[in-house]
Amino acid sequence: VGHIDDVQELRKAKPATVPERFIRDMADRPKVVPNLSSSLDIPIIDLSKLMKTDKDEVMQLKTACEEWGFFQVLNHGIDLNVVEDIENVAKDFFMLPLQEKQKYPMAPGTVQGYGQAFVFSENQKLDWCNMFALGVEPPCIRNPKLWPSKPVNFRETLEIYSREVRKLCKTLLKYIAVSLGLKGGVFEEMFGVAVQAVRMNYYPPCSRPDLVLGLSPHSDGSALTVLQQGKDSSVGLQILKGQTWVPVQPIPNALVINIGDTLEVLTNGKYKSVEHRAVTHKERDRLSIVTFYAPSYDIELGPMAELVDEKNPCRYRRYNHGEYSKHYVTNKLQGKRTLDFAK
Ligand code: SIN
Ligand code: FE2
Repeated sequence: VGHIDDVQELRKAKPATVPERFIRDMADRPKVVPNLSSSLDIPIIDLSKLMKTDKDEVMQLKTACEEWGFFQVLNHGIDLNVVEDIENVAKDFFMLPLQEKQKYPMAPGTVQGYGQAFVFSENQKLDWCNMFALGVEPPCIRNPKLWPSKPVNFRETLEIYSREVRKLCKTLLKYIAVSLGLKGGVFEEMFGVAVQAVRMNYYPPCSRPDLVLGLSPHSDGSALTVLQQGKDSSVGLQILKGQTWVPVQPIPNALVINIGDTLEVLTNGKYKSVEHRAVTHKERDRLSIVTFYAPSYDIELGPMAELVDEKNPCRYRRYNHGEYSKHYVTNKLQGKRTLDFAK
């Protein structure tokens, strides 16, 4: 992606029209959604109740994972200063001059560095988004050359944040297991040393939010994803519920959690990895900081025996998670089609 496709630079240049490469085919353009009733808001889970193994809360978690694949978590236990700090360093990074950010270029076919991921052909439509992505855990997946020296507190802040998010993922997976009637430790045991990556997404305002997408529809390849939205960001995340794109209304101090493809496979489709996308706003920008939590690359996985029976025949094959990850990052975002790999 060259200079001319960097959406922040495009925004600064204020062209009269949005460049062709960003303009979506008619069917893919975001419709202006009417004000939906609050019954269409994604579920809210209170982690402090979950940690007391409150039966109702575990039930709600189960319903959230079965019917939505998404929920917002309150009382998530991450210090609000840590949440604020990561938002600040992410924003500071994106506000650096382009030449500075381009010291950390994203190599094609990888999702590490600055640029636009998942772009593989000249005629593929581009997302109205700048990304900065890094592998974080285990340390052997880090590419230290891509960890930026500016802003100066970036690296330390990301380390602290990632440690906290890792704890949260482990806790959530424990209760997700409980909600399935399984032993709390099954996922932790199965995953080995879990892989954790972060992707920061910055969506500048766009003069024609009706023509472009901030981020193409996709489901996540992770087991679990933790999404933090900027405090003053516009509403931009939408999830596909049936045929409807439902906007996720940010709740102060909550984090958005979603089930990824890996958990869908492990639960034999009981818990859903739901398709989602991001839209842009005419005047406001948006920042999201997304953490992907997944098993170690070397593990083989498939539907768990406990969740397969006559009524629920096995829906996915067994495969190596590293191969799946590779498949995921070397294909364009295309709704739920990446999961065809497991069929
Ligand atoms: C994502 O799906 O990775 C991010 C979507 C968002 O920016 O909310
Ligand atoms: Fe996603």
